[in-house]
Amino acid sequence: MQIYLDYSATTPPRPEVIALMQATLQAEWGNPSSLHQWGNRAATVLERSRLQIAALLNASPDSLVFTAGGTEADNLAILGVAQSYRQPQHLIISSVEHSAIAVPASQLEARGWQVSRLPVSRTGQVGPADLKQALRDNTTLVSIIYGQSEVGTLQPIAELGAIAQAHGALFHTDAVQVAGRLPIDVQQLPVDLLSVSSHKIYGPQGAGALYIKPGVSLTPLLGGGGQEFGLRSGTQALPNIAGFGLAAELAAQEMPAETLRLMHLRNRLFSLLADVPELAVTGDRRERLPHHVSFCLPHTEGLSGKTLVRQMNLAGIGISAGSACHSGKLSPSPVLQAMGYRDRAALTGIRLTLGRRTTAADIDWTAMVLKQVLARSLPAKFVAPV
Ligand SMILES: Cc1ncc(COP(=O)(O)O)c(C=O)c1O
Repeated sequence: MQIYLDYSATTPPRPEVIALMQATLQAEWGNPSSLHQWGNRAATVLERSRLQIAALLNASPDSLVFTAGGTEADNLAILGVAQSYRQPQHLIISSVEHSAIAVPASQLEARGWQVSRLPVSRTGQVGPADLKQALRDNTTLVSIIYGQSEVGTLQPIAELGAIAQAHGALFHTDAVQVAGRLPIDVQQLPVDLLSVSSHKIYGPQGAGALYIKPGVSLTPLLGGGGQEFGLRSGTQALPNIAGFGLAAELAAQEMPAETLRLMHLRNRLFSLLADVPELAVTGDRRERLPHHVSFCLPHTEGLSGKTLVRQMNLAGIGISAGSACHSGKLSPSPVLQAMGYRDRAALTGIRLTLGRRTTAADIDWTAMVLKQVLARSLPAKFVAPV
């Protein structure tokens, strides 16, 4: 039995998406910027995708800029705003951002920007009061991740965005894990910029988009032909973008039922594992991505998240670990550390993320295998009977 439970890392492209991408590659290979019929047909494909993604976010199509993925959308948001200023200013992010935000923020810091990293609660949430306190006269941008990929916590984005905007700062959110899984309406949410990625919603890797509220101005990161309203030069990757558009349309259609189904399966997995005494849920239990299950082993020696991932892989089950391995040495997850976990616990984070192909039988089997793996690896006192 092979069970993939790493849908936050990437999702298998839908068959309809693959078929459309193949057809696009074969028939619509024109350059969307060309003025002849081949170009016009490609431009039609491009704009249809823009409409489909706009519909997922309730955005106007001309507020979306296609990028090569979520990472580029995040970089464009942070660096594109920053480069609109001659002098370094103040940026606020959270201490649990994806590296696609944390790294450009550090780059700005090296260039003289002030960067505040907001603390989070034990469940990974940013407190609105902490944001209020961190705002300065020269705060130009606040960027807070919407759904945390490692621990699943959802942030109170409506409240945080309203605080930032009331102060006169721009507000960006990385919604890569949320788009297609929970409804997003950029007309209702107080956001100026919002990042999404294709391969988290059953589209292909290598496509993403940045929503830019009309009136917000960014400096492009790439110099070139001025595609994407002058904000992202380079000929668009049409097959990827076409696949992204269709994936967005299908995600929007299936979302209400699929979100509920995933929440049930997620809760089933949490309850099946509830009798393992040393498995502690990480992230917020209620304000949580619908497909996301995560744990750590706070009081155990010698067992890392990576080891568990390898052992589960041997049993045919794909999950992921939060800690990273640098030059053969394990380092604790910075996200769990920011949430107040000690280094030893922050080495043991694991994540199981569910998706369209996940069934109740997969969940039951996974819970049983995980308990067996833990029973083999942990002292007997820790593990409940399988
Ligand atoms: C929250 C978050 N932001 C950004 C990214 C990067 O997206 P992409 O892989 O499309 O560059 C990811 C991917 O793991 C993510 O989970």
